[in-house]
Amino acid sequence: MRSDGARTPPEETTEIRRQRKNPRLKIRIREYRSSDLAQMLELVRELEVELAERFPDVQIKTSVDEYAERFLKPGTKYKTFVAEVKRKVVGYLIGYPSLGAPEVDNMYDILPVSPGWTPPEFYLQITFVSRPCRNRGISKALHKKTIEYAHRQGHREVYACIAKWNLPEICVISSFDFVKKDLGYRYRMTLKF
Ligand SMILES: CC(C)(COP(=O)(O)OP(=O)(O)OC[C@H]1O[C@@H](n2cnc3c(N)ncnc32)[C@H](O)[C@@H]1OP(=O)(O)O)[C@@H](O)C(=O)NCCC(=O)NCCS
Repeated sequence: MRSDGARTPPEETTEIRRQRKNPRLKIRIREYRSSDLAQMLELVRELEVELAERFPDVQIKTSVDEYAERFLKPGTKYKTFVAEVKRKVVGYLIGYPSLGAPEVDNMYDILPVSPGWTPPEFYLQITFVSRPCRNRGISKALHKKTIEYAHRQGHREVYACIAKWNLPEICVISSFDFVKKDLGYRYRMTLKF
C-alpha cells in the first residue's frame, strides 16, 4: 500500500527473493520521467567508467549530453524504463521501435506517421544496472517490463544484439524465449510474438 492509500498495481512491483545468493530486494520498474534525468546521467557516468576499464585501449567519448539531448528527451522514438530500489534509480533499459535496417535505425530517429502503423520490430538498445545492485534480478525485471510494453504496442518481435563476452546479459536474455543467431562476435537474440 502506498502512502496515499492507493495500491501499487501488481505489475509495477517485482519482488525478487534470492535468499540463497542475495538478500531480498524490492524493485520497482516504471517508465522514465524527466525528473529522473540527474540520476540517469549519474548511471551513464558509472557505465562509462566501466567501459573505460573494460576497453583500456580506447578513449570513450562521453555520451552524457547525447543521453540528455537525444535518448531521454520526451517525444523521441526512445522508450526508457527505470528500476527503482528505495526510491533511487539504480538501473535502466532503453529501447526503440525499429525498421530492422541498422543503417537507418542507427542514424535516424524515425517516428511512425501513418495512423495504425507500428514498426515491426522493437530493439533493446542498452541496459545498465549499478554495480552494487547486480545479480538481484533487476535487468530481468527491466526486460520483462519492456517486452510486455513492446507486445502491447503491437510490435511483432523484440531483438537485441549482445556481445559474446557479456555473459550476464546473455544470461538475462536467455531467460526469455529469444532465439539466438550467431553474428560472429555477437549474438542476435530475437523474440517473436
Ligand atoms: C548486464 C547487466 C545489465 C545485468 O544486470 P543484473 O541486474 O545484474 O542482471 P540480473 O540480476 O537480472 O541477471 C543476471 C544474471 O546473470 C548471471 N551472471 C552474472 N554473471 C555471470 C557470468 N559471469 N556468467 C554467466 N552468468 C552470469 C547471474 O547469476 C544472473 O542470473 P540468475 O538470475 O539466473 O542467477 C549488468 O551486469 C550491467 O549493467 N552490465 C554493464 C552494462 C552492460 O553490459 N549492459 C548490457 C549490454 S546492453
